[in-house]
Amino acid sequence: MKALILSGGKGTRLRPLTYTTAKQLVPVANKPILGYVLDHIAGAGIKDAGIIISPETGEDVKRYVKTGSDWGLKARYILQSEPLGLAHAVSTARDFLGDDDFIMYLGDNLLSRGVKDSVKKFKLERPDALIFLKEVDNPKQFGVAQLDKKKKVIKLIEKPENPPSNLALVGVYIFSRSVHDAIARIKPSFRGELEITDAIQELINMKCKVESEILDGWWLDTGKKDDLLQANTVVLDEYIKRQIKGRVDGRSQVSGRVTVEKGATVVNSIIRGPVIIGKGAKIKDSFIGPFTSIGDDVTVTGSAIEHSVILNNSDVEGVERLEDSLIGRCARIIRNQNRHKALRLMVGDDSIIEV
Ligand code: TTP
Repeated sequence: MKALILSGGKGTRLRPLTYTTAKQLVPVANKPILGYVLDHIAGAGIKDAGIIISPETGEDVKRYVKTGSDWGLKARYILQSEPLGLAHAVSTARDFLGDDDFIMYLGDNLLSRGVKDSVKKFKLERPDALIFLKEVDNPKQFGVAQLDKKKKVIKLIEKPENPPSNLALVGVYIFSRSVHDAIARIKPSFRGELEITDAIQELINMKCKVESEILDGWWLDTGKKDDLLQANTVVLDEYIKRQIKGRVDGRSQVSGRVTVEKGATVVNSIIRGPVIIGKGAKIKDSFIGPFTSIGDDVTVTGSAIEHSVILNNSDVEGVERLEDSLIGRCARIIRNQNRHKALRLMVGDDSIIEV
């Protein structure tokens, strides 16, 4: 079995971060989302990974994954010149996929568990497609599956007005070669994309065997700021261990599950886990509260930060309380005490500032 990882797309909902980086490379608990995806692929014993990239961010993705050897994978890059849909990405990868079975994994999705058991199940039962479903509170915003009494998938509906169930389609799929025949039969949707939901529906219409598995663990789609903060919360909660590799001075208090990476320093500060503090970061006279990821070489001085993600090389200074925030790379957030109430801002396109 091969893997097809979708790491193209536009990432418009995560602008401005995605002007300078691929959305799949935005870190969750200081590790790019794509890294978790590759862990899962490798954990399922797969060796050949095709990675769909876009012309805008493909080079960044290549720089991170390289040959794939860090994961024991052989990575092959497939350029999709325009993001014309998930099924279009599959057609673009046809030469790489050949007639092999493959697992398709959206590069911005995170699952609580790996895919090893599901890959095993697919190989054993040999359906034409195995899809993953998750119960959600707001099914209208997702592709939704309708199942019969025997839990067989009978219909898939994209963002339904009247959802037939609360089972949303997760961004991981396992296919046999039949999916290529289905894709050849579908037309672009109203948004001009070749939809994978339509291709799976076509498999059902073609009387192919489409099986489903309902996930019991978490599933996170990191497309927007709040989703990303939630992913950060869940991942920190689950994976962060207490590991102090950097330097913490005697006036600081570090409680709970806190990772302080090599070369980081904590001076006269309170850190309350789960928190990760990246390499070379400098925290001084500050409070870092639960569910915060501080990137590499970030400096935080005289500030309080909670439930936030601060990417590499940014500075936060004199900010009384920063919450629920996602700060890009090399940003500077500084409170100038002498400037009364006036705000002085230099804000990139598509930024959101709540004051
Ligand atoms: P989406 O989140 O649906 O699309 P997007 O990345 O363009 O984001 P936005 O809606 O904010 O503009 O894509 C899901 C995943 O699939 C994501 O990792 C990008 C990838 N993708 C491709 O590789 N090719 C494509 O044609 C599309 C539509 C998505």
